[in-house]
Parts: sequence; structure tokens; C-alpha cells
Amino acid sequence: MKGVILAGGLGTRLHPLTKITNKHLLPIYDRPMIHYPIMTLVEAGIRDILIVTGGNHAGEFLRLLGNGREFGLDDIAYTYQEGERGIADALALARHFADGGKVVVILGDNIIEKDIRAPVAAFDRQPSGARLLLKKVPDPERFGVAEIDGRRIVSIFEKPKKPKSDYAVTGIYMYDAAVFDIVATLVPSHRNELEITDVNNAYLKRGDLQFDLLDGWWTDAGTFESLFRANQLVRDKATGGQPDRAS
Ligand code: DAU
Repeated sequence: MKGVILAGGLGTRLHPLTKITNKHLLPIYDRPMIHYPIMTLVEAGIRDILIVTGGNHAGEFLRLLGNGREFGLDDIAYTYQEGERGIADALALARHFADGGKVVVILGDNIIEKDIRAPVAAFDRQPSGARLLLKKVPDPERFGVAEIDGRRIVSIFEKPKKPKSDYAVTGIYMYDAAVFDIVATLVPSHRNELEITDVNNAYLKRGDLQFDLLDGWWTDAGTFESLFRANQLVRDKATGGQPDRAS
């Protein structure tokens, strides 16, 4: 299976940090943010990766990551999203790369504690459709929120004021090739973006949407608070919560 990392957008919520660099190149403890989604895909056995970037500093990705040897990859593909027209708009650029196959998509600012090997294997066995990873969170109104009934997703709302559950839809999505036809039918939301939640709702309507609960902690890093938290979580994981006394 192929992997797609969505690292476009302008990161305006992190101004002035993102005025002179791309959000996904900011440090999370001892690595640039973009390293983490790459490692997540590589640990799940994915070797063929496309990075969708954008904004003014896209060339820096090539300087940083080169051909991906550092991650054990033979090559990394890159493409460029113009403007900030939404996550689904960025995903549309992966159509040619996906070449009719299934894809695992991860947002460039999503960082997880453990690995996604089991859900990716489950999606490999899934005959068609989409698969989401959900995580119980204390602040669901910040995310896409899924209402579930047993093993079934009942509804998904993007950043609802009154969430119907505590289950955030994490930024790790698995799609069959139908996703590109679905994206082509979308219309921009009130924030003028093509919303990934609309893509997921299209699969829900078709009755072809599965989910797993994500194991271990999960965070995004798109606001000052979540960026800070991501640094703390990654540092605690790396050091076992103990500061490195030698430094
Ligand atoms: O982190 C999970 C959440 O991500 C989901 O629960 C939401 O349903 C989903 O809409 C998204 O919410 P955010 O509002 O936090 O997304 P944000 O605009 O911060 O974008 C997250 C990443 O997506 C960003 O780091 C890069 C990529 N992106 C985003 C936009 C708007 C693009 O590649 N292109 C874009 O135009």
C-alpha cells in the first residue's frame, strides 16, 4: 500500500513561527515535525510515500528529506498544493501517485505514540471503502467528531459546538481508489475548504466506512498549545519522562 502525507496549508494559526518556515519543519523535540508522520508510515510497512506540501518554503522539504534514504525508503515523491483549499483538496493531488490502489493518508502535523500496523493490515483485508482511526479526547470540539454505535459510525461532524461523543477523527485515514471521485464531487465549506469530513461522510452514506480506536496517545501540532504538548509527549516518550542529566 502507498502512503500520502498532507503537509500543505499556511499554518496561519502558528504565526509568527510559520512566517519564515513551513509548520511541518518546526521542531518537535529532537526532529522536524514532518519526520514523525514519515516514521508512522514506515513503521506500518509503507515504503512508497508522497508528500503534498505548499506555501512559500516547499523547497526546504527536498533539502531536509532528499530521497528518503534516512528512513529506509528508495525514494520520496513530492507535489505542491496551491493556496490553502483544504485537506481534501491536497489529497486530490495524490490521484496519479495512487494509481488506482489503496492509500494510507496522514496529516503532516499528526503525531502518535505507537504504531498503526494492525489497522493498516485490517484495511489491507478490507474489500473496499474507507477506514478511520478514532481517539477519545477531552476537547472533541477541536476536531472531526464521530458518533459510534458498537462497531458502526453513525455520524461525523467537523468541529461541532456540541459534540455527540468524545471520539475525535484523527488525521490518519485509509481510502480505496474511489476517494478521488468523491473528492471531485465536493463543494467548499463555510471556511472555503474542501473538507476531509465530507469525504468520510460520503463513505458513511455508501455504508463503506470502518474504524479502529487508535492505541496510545495522539496529538496534532497546529496551535501553540498542541505544538507545546506534542513536544512534551515526544520528549517523555524519548526520555521516559526523565531529563537527560548529561546535557
Ligand atoms: O488533526 C485531526 C483533525 O485535522 C481532524 O479531526 C479534522 O477533522 C480535520 O479537519 C483536521 O482539522 P484541522 O482544522 O486541525 O486541520 P488543519 O487545517 O490544521 O490541517 C491539518 C493538516 O492538514 C496540516 O498540517 C496540513 C494539511 N493541510 C491542511 C490544509 C487546510 C493541507 O495539506 N492542505 C490544506 O489546505
